[in-house]
Amino acid sequence: MSTVLVRDLKKFYEVREGFRKRRVVEALRGISFSVGRGEIHAMLGPNGAGKTTTIKILATLLLPDGGEAYVAGFDVVKQADEVRRRVGISLDVSKGFYPSLSGYENLVFYGLLKGFSISYSRRRAKELLELVGLEGMKASYNPYFTYSLGMRAKLSIAKALFSDPEVLLLDEPTLGLDVESARMIRKLITELAKDGKTVLITGHNMYEIEEVAQSVTIINNGVVVASGTPEQLKLKFGLLYKVSILLRDVGKDFIGVVKSSLPLEGMSVEDLGGSLRITMYVRSRREELVQTLLNLLERSNTKVLDISIKEPTLEDVYVGLVGGGVYRVT
Ligand SMILES: Nc1ncnc2c1ncn2[C@@H]1O[C@H](COP(=O)(O)OP(=O)(O)O)[C@@H](O)[C@H]1O
Ligand SMILES: [Mg+2]
Repeated sequence: MSTVLVRDLKKFYEVREGFRKRRVVEALRGISFSVGRGEIHAMLGPNGAGKTTTIKILATLLLPDGGEAYVAGFDVVKQADEVRRRVGISLDVSKGFYPSLSGYENLVFYGLLKGFSISYSRRRAKELLELVGLEGMKASYNPYFTYSLGMRAKLSIAKALFSDPEVLLLDEPTLGLDVESARMIRKLITELAKDGKTVLITGHNMYEIEEVAQSVTIINNGVVVASGTPEQLKLKFGLLYKVSILLRDVGKDFIGVVKSSLPLEGMSVEDLGGSLRITMYVRSRREELVQTLLNLLERSNTKVLDISIKEPTLEDVYVGLVGGGVYRVT
């Protein structure tokens, strides 16, 4: 049985434009996915894809306009109280805390607001600080406003865990974090799932998320564009690289030679007046790609100013999935 089940979920926002004009934003156009118990599921997508909207609906903070969603078997609309008792949510890691109180005080205060006794709230706050690795950190006794972003992210997860919920909804828990803090957060999330928590996280970096998630749903523009295990998605996109080279004195036939030598999925050429920027999406193994590229550049008589080979961002991948411009071989 799925602990989180989303079926054909829809959400529209009405936005005002000017005095009388209104425009409807279709934030979710019918998305479906499910998450098994103890599983970490990642919802990936660029800004505006509909991730936060989905999380808010699952946390009963927003009502859907169509479709259904269940948490632990309870309907998020008809059984909102039951759902609320079973979910913990972390939305914007830097919001929802009192700046002048310490992390500990913030958690105790939150417990009191939730109706727990002072002694229980204190005990729980201590326990949670320990769990997320803030206890023992001298800095964690300072006021919240002095917290680093990494500490804030941990505290936000601690707060989401306060009522020991079955399901954790974490919206972009590693957003803006440095590499080390992000890794610690991912480790924490993995441990929580091992303890039986079902976790739904959002993000936009597939390469970061595949480390923690057992299954992934990629959404864009309010629709699911791909889903599967990270392995399945990696097979689909993992061998795709974004190559960018900046050249001067480019020979006439160079572009043609590039096109015939590399397994291109897309290419764009930008004339920067004097130099040329060539951006390519290449499906290849990295070593082969590097070799071919070096050979090509060596044989041509161009002056190479810059080279970069990167894994494409998810945005790049969507362009391919939804058929945008950059991806087409010109
Ligand atoms: N309160 C709101 N009012 C109007 N439009 C909104 C509101 N919240 C989100 N949207 C719009 O809905 C779409 C999905 O937003 P969101 O769920 O926040 O996406 P994500 O979290 O993936 O960035 C976007 O086009 C966004 O501009
Ligand atoms: Mg968001």
